[in-house]
Amino acid sequence: MAATSVGSLMVITCMSILLLAPAASKLPKPDIHLLEFPLNLEYLEAEFYLYGSMGMGMDQIQPNLTGGGPPPVGVRRANLSPLVRDIIAQFGYQEVGHVRAIKSTVAGFARPLMNLSAASFANVMNNAFGRPLHPPFDPYANDINYLIASYVIPYVGLTGYVGSAPLLQTPTAKKLVAGLLGIESGQDAVLRTLLYQRAKERVIPYGVTVGEVTDRISELRNKLGDAGLKDEGLTILDIGGKIRGNILSATNTYSLSYARTPEEVLRIVYQTGKEQLPGGFFPYGANGTIARQYLKSPKI
Ligand SMILES: *[C@@H]1O[C@H](CO)[C@@H](O)[C@H](O)[C@H]1NC(C)=O
Ligand SMILES: *[C@@H]1O[C@H](CO)[C@@H](O)[C@H](O)[C@H]1NC(C)=O
Ligand SMILES: *[C@@H]1O[C@H](CO)[C@@H](O)[C@H](O)[C@H]1NC(C)=O
Repeated sequence: MAATSVGSLMVITCMSILLLAPAASKLPKPDIHLLEFPLNLEYLEAEFYLYGSMGMGMDQIQPNLTGGGPPPVGVRRANLSPLVRDIIAQFGYQEVGHVRAIKSTVAGFARPLMNLSAASFANVMNNAFGRPLHPPFDPYANDINYLIASYVIPYVGLTGYVGSAPLLQTPTAKKLVAGLLGIESGQDAVLRTLLYQRAKERVIPYGVTVGEVTDRISELRNKLGDAGLKDEGLTILDIGGKIRGNILSATNTYSLSYARTPEEVLRIVYQTGKEQLPGGFFPYGANGTIARQYLKSPKI
């Protein structure tokens, strides 16, 4: 009995040492690249949520995680109710944790330049509606606008994690991606619930409902992603042509999360529909090996 216990203890101790050993050096290149890629979106989400809720970002809250990259352009504190501000601030700290988690596993890269100006979101909305909205959409104006703006990008990151999962080789990488995906999915569910509660409200002054706006944004992402239907708003058309509620975005038969490749993610966050053509939220492009390989003459 005693010998068995000592044996088990030794096994457990050895396992702990293995789990605590620095992983980065041991990871195969494809895992490193797949773990670094989502850092782009995690930086974006961290800055958007931190500024939106508190009026300050990573430079104030965790400067040593930015790697000295340029501060985001045009981001600011949103005019939010106490409940939404509280939730978004928590999301902001979660995203800081995600940046820290990724950078403690792989080297990563400095925060890329991000354009989080009202005009950047207004462009997305104009494209989603196929016409310029007057006045231009302001993501920072109120709860509804900010929640809609929060609907634009984070979900794309979630589908990116689902897409990368089957390509990962090591337990270290799989464990990290599962942990990140879990929290991103939770955030998506919270955002969709807050929007769902307001789905029939009109987005002032455009006269369209919150539900319709989410449908338009999802359609735009499907178009830019250029890989078929992988995104659904808060309402969908039933087989009989009836409109029904859609609290989560999931595949038809199995109700699984949709998966996107890094190329699809880049087409959407660049807002250009081309992984070779940066723009939108990343004026100089996203960073990391996967994103940079598409940019023929990278600007610094
Ligand atoms: C970053 O800063 C925090 C405190 O602000 C500190 O605890 C942490 O060790 C720092 N990390 C690095 C890599 O310097
Ligand atoms: C990409 O990251 C590397 C390493 O952090 C940095 O030297 C380079 O300037 C970055 N490029 C862009 C476009 O952000
Ligand atoms: C940010 O995006 C807006 C809208 O596209 C654009 O007018 C502005 O020049 C951009 N800023 C930077 C620094 O890219």
